[in-house]
Amino acid sequence: WGVQGHRVIGKIAENHLTKKAKDQIALMLGTERLPLITTWADEVRYSPEYASTAPWHFINTALGLPFEQYTGVVKALQEPNAYLALTQNLKDLKDPSKTKEQKLVALKFVAHIVGDVHQPMHVSRAEDKGGNAITVKYQGKDTNLHSLWDSGLLDYEGMTYSELAVLLDKPTPMQVQQWQKDDITKWLFESYTISQQLYAETEKSAEFDYKYVPAHLPTVEDRLLQAGIRLAGVLNAAFN
Ligand code: ADE
Ligand code: ZN
Ligand code: ZN
Repeated sequence: WGVQGHRVIGKIAENHLTKKAKDQIALMLGTERLPLITTWADEVRYSPEYASTAPWHFINTALGLPFEQYTGVVKALQEPNAYLALTQNLKDLKDPSKTKEQKLVALKFVAHIVGDVHQPMHVSRAEDKGGNAITVKYQGKDTNLHSLWDSGLLDYEGMTYSELAVLLDKPTPMQVQQWQKDDITKWLFESYTISQQLYAETEKSAEFDYKYVPAHLPTVEDRLLQAGIRLAGVLNAAFN
């Protein structure tokens, strides 16, 4: 996601933290705020110190796998990827032997990666770099499939992240309960399923007309909400 998407997720997550988690996160962050630290991982990915974290933002596999097989493939991946990075940073966040600084870094990665794995084009295939190498036309201009899903569709809304969070943060209690129970591999598989549909559509035509927004914005919004609720879920579990 772009800045906007990550902040919406951070804001929704903040709304669903338990008192205990909220207090501990506030202590860790000092003057910073959860919605604002969600984009830190993107800011450092091109710096020498954090160059090795560049592959932590996405996960690429072959397409067309059913859930069980997909999960097996994901768990067997050796190269750095979003799944490994998320599970490792979640572990670090709960690890009493880690320093305060290390835990803050882990929190910033968790807050970001939970978001990225809900962006369908971040759970896709390597050949086209998650759609970065697929040129599409949107509103008469050339862009690429990845960027359209990171930010293009959301920019169309023309709202601030706080406004978007208010608009989207209306899950039913049942949805919250179910989404927070789901395993990380389920989050990935949902994104993977959507990205395959997007690839298939784009193969038919890469010139998207005015119908693309109403057809896909609801999916973007669902994914942002689910990411926010699930980020709150893992943080509540880590701090309780
Ligand atoms: N680079 C290579 N694959 C990518 C993906 N799926 N998402 C983002 N960047 C990538
Ligand atoms: Zn992206
Ligand atoms: Zn990212």
